[in-house]
Amino acid sequence: AIISLKQLLDYAAEHGFAVPAFNISNMEQVQAIMQAADACDSPVIMQGSAGANRYAGEIFLRHLIQAAVEQYPHIPLVMHRDHAPSPALCAQAIQNGFSSVMMDGSLLEDMKTPAKFDYNVEVTRKVVDMAHACGVSVEGEIGCLGSLEAETDHSRLLTDPDEAAQFVELTRVDALAVAIGTSHGAYKFSKPPTGEVLVINRLKELQQRLPNMHFVMHGSSSVPQEWLAVINAHGGEIRQTYGVPVAEIVEGIKYGVRKVNIDTDLRMASTGAMRRFLAQPDNVAELDARKTYAAARNAMQALCLERYQAFGSAGHA
Ligand code: G3H
Ligand code: 13P
Ligand code: NA
Ligand code: ZN
Repeated sequence: AIISLKQLLDYAAEHGFAVPAFNISNMEQVQAIMQAADACDSPVIMQGSAGANRYAGEIFLRHLIQAAVEQYPHIPLVMHRDHAPSPALCAQAIQNGFSSVMMDGSLLEDMKTPAKFDYNVEVTRKVVDMAHACGVSVEGEIGCLGSLEAETDHSRLLTDPDEAAQFVELTRVDALAVAIGTSHGAYKFSKPPTGEVLVINRLKELQQRLPNMHFVMHGSSSVPQEWLAVINAHGGEIRQTYGVPVAEIVEGIKYGVRKVNIDTDLRMASTGAMRRFLAQPDNVAELDARKTYAAARNAMQALCLERYQAFGSAGHA
C-alpha cells in the first residue's frame, strides 16, 4: 500500500533504521527494487526525478509504481517526487498520486543558481501548506550539495545547524535534505573520502539542534569498485572515482538519517551487467533483449538487497 514519507520515517526513527530511496525510470528498476524488498521484508521508497519525467513521463512512473503496489500489496511504499524545482511541479506530482514531494528550493527554478534563504522558505512553505492539506509529505533542502574536495570555504557548502533549525520552524517540512559533502553522480571523491570531505560529524550537530527531524542524505551512492571494474573490463571508460562508503551512511543513521538517495549505483550495476552479458561469446548472436534487461535487473536486485540489509530496513515491511 502507498503510505506517506512521514508515516514511514516516523516508524524508521522509532526503530533506528533508514530506508534507501531509489530513483526509477523504467520497469526493470521497479521490479528489482520490489523483488529485493519482498525477499527481505523491507518497506520501499521509489522516487522520480526531472530526468525520469523526461525519459518515461510522470504518468508512466505513476502506473509502474501502481503495478508494484498491486503485485506486492503487503509492502508499504512511498511514491516520492525527487528535486521538484517549483510549487507547480509539486502540485503536478500530488495530482499524479505521489505521497511525498521534495521541494528543492535550495536552487532557483533553473536548478543551477543557488537560492537565497528567504526564497527557499517561501516556496517550501507554500508546498507544505498545499501538500499537508492532501496528506502528502514534504522534503525540503537546506545547504548546497557539492563536493568539498576542491572547495576551501566549507561553510558555503555544509548545512548550517542554526539555519536548518530556522528553516524547519518556518516551513514545517517532514524531512530535511542536508549537505555534508556528498554530491550527485559518480564523481564524488577522487580518493576514498575522509572526515574532511565527508562530514558525518555535521549530522551530530544537526541532530542536537533538531532532535526530531528526519534527515535525508542525497548523493549517497557508494560507487561500487566491483561494478566500475566490470564496466571498464567490457569496453567502458569510467575514470577512477569513489562514492559514499556504506559504513559512513550506517554511521549517519545513528544521527537521524532516515532516507538515503541512491541513483548512480543502480545505473552502474545495470550498465556493468549489460556490458558483461553482451560481451560473452555465448551471447554474441543473442537478439532477445529481454535477456540483457534481465541481467541488469538481477544486478540491481542484488544491490538493493544489500542496501536494505545494511540500512536496517529489512524485516520492517
Ligand atoms: O537528483 C538526482 C538524480 O540522480 C537525478 O537524475 O538525471 O534522472 O534527473 P536525473
Ligand atoms: P547518487 O547520484 O549518489 O545516486 O544520488 C542520487 C540522489 O541524490 C537523487 O536525489
Ligand atoms: Na528527494
Ligand atoms: Zn538528490
